[in-house]
Amino acid sequence: MPDVSADIVLIRARLLAWYDAHARNLPWRAAVGAARTEPYRVWLSEVMLQQTTVPHATPYFHAFTTRWPAVQDLAAAEDADVMAAWAGLGYYARARNLLACARAVANDHGGIFPDTEAGLLALPGVGAYTAAAVAAIAFDRAANVVDGNVERVMARLFAVETPVPAARPELRRLAGLFVTDERPGDWAQGLMDLGATVCRPKSPSCGTCPVADRCQGLAGGEPTRFPVKAKKAERPHRHGFAYVLFDDQGRVAVQTRPNKGLLGGMLGLPTSDWTPQTPPDQPPMRGEWRMAGAVDHVFTHFSLTLTVRTAQGCADSGPWRWMPIETARAALPTVFAKALDRAGAPDLLG
Ligand code: ADE
Repeated sequence: MPDVSADIVLIRARLLAWYDAHARNLPWRAAVGAARTEPYRVWLSEVMLQQTTVPHATPYFHAFTTRWPAVQDLAAAEDADVMAAWAGLGYYARARNLLACARAVANDHGGIFPDTEAGLLALPGVGAYTAAAVAAIAFDRAANVVDGNVERVMARLFAVETPVPAARPELRRLAGLFVTDERPGDWAQGLMDLGATVCRPKSPSCGTCPVADRCQGLAGGEPTRFPVKAKKAERPHRHGFAYVLFDDQGRVAVQTRPNKGLLGGMLGLPTSDWTPQTPPDQPPMRGEWRMAGAVDHVFTHFSLTLTVRTAQGCADSGPWRWMPIETARAALPTVFAKALDRAGAPDLLG
């Protein structure tokens, strides 16, 4: 591991100076040099920002703080009112946690947020990120605040080759190297602002980055390669045959699939097995089978090419039953509905 301590001092100084000049003007943020924001507002904004972006969170932040200006007001709110006000931010467990936390602060802490990371972490519904963010931003505690923006900045600065999510502990450790007692709240927010506005995921503006000359990702010529993503395993492909048998009264042969396995208990068409190599083409009933083409379908764990064969009229009996085509069309899972469509229309009696 190279000694990065000199770089760390330099990067800190550059980023804090950049933040002094370029801090975003956010409704929950005190102006540089002004008194700190109330912990209630910091906490509320951080919970909302875990859920969504700054532009989307902003009107919710205004609505909440207008209606419930202090943590005691929120604690006294009706559950249903808070849930309704949260609508649109998604993930309702978070709104429940928000209320539980407000009530704990109001009832067990005299309406005053604990001022340490550990004290905050002990509140209901407050996780590692929120505890660190509120400790740093509201109380200027040296806390390691790591969100997706911070992970990306670290991955690029140090050209971390380990893919995420495996790299997360390493990215957290690297972020921790920068945390000191000097302006921890500004440091945390500066780093997050840099990630959001300069070191953006897709098109970073490295030309305006205050630490571009320290960035190993940029030095390698391809900063957006970081954080490296684990390659998704490729979906395997399978092949099979679907047999679409019509009678002369506008009906098609269907069968209920076994309860266990893919599309278990659903209506299906008779098919071959679905296998990596093309399976034998053995229609389950006699008939003049013709080729009707093929359909493709993607399941969660594999993709499938079904070759569709179709025939008309058959006296055999078997595990299938006759069903009006339109009824079957509506009840069949998509993959079979596609196969049915591919078979075309049958010849009808008369
Ligand atoms: N993203 C989440 N919290 C933030 C904050 N306090 N400042 C900037 N970006 C953020």
